[in-house]
Amino acid sequence: MATVQWSDTLSVNIPEIDLQHRQLINLMAELEKALETGADKEIIGRVIRELNTYVREHFSEEERWMTRYEFPGLKGHAAQHEKFVETLLHFELDYLADRKELSAELLAFLMSWFTEHILGFDQHYAHFFLEKGYV
Ligand SMILES: [Fe+2]
Repeated sequence: MATVQWSDTLSVNIPEIDLQHRQLINLMAELEKALETGADKEIIGRVIRELNTYVREHFSEEERWMTRYEFPGLKGHAAQHEKFVETLLHFELDYLADRKELSAELLAFLMSWFTEHILGFDQHYAHFFLEKGYV
């Protein structure tokens, strides 16, 4: 599985949000590397903790922008964020229960989030802000 890499097509034209998306890419790369070397058990707890901090800041930031500029897709978008937080909580509980294969599943979940949400849904508000001249 090859981790995603940053490219300008991922940009939402808001520097602080682009930076946060890069942080997620870095976390995914770190998790993938740990999986390859078999060191994933040591780092998965930290990755989950960092993800918890990350989503709180990142989702609030995106939702602040969408609220400020009355993005019509806000409700559906925020619901996806909520679902992510819920799934992450399940991963955390599984981690605490010491369930096996967790790191690979978490990486797969983040990859699909990246492809579907960041490459898909985040681009919807990006285009909206661009069209309206907000960015
Ligand atoms: Fe988002």
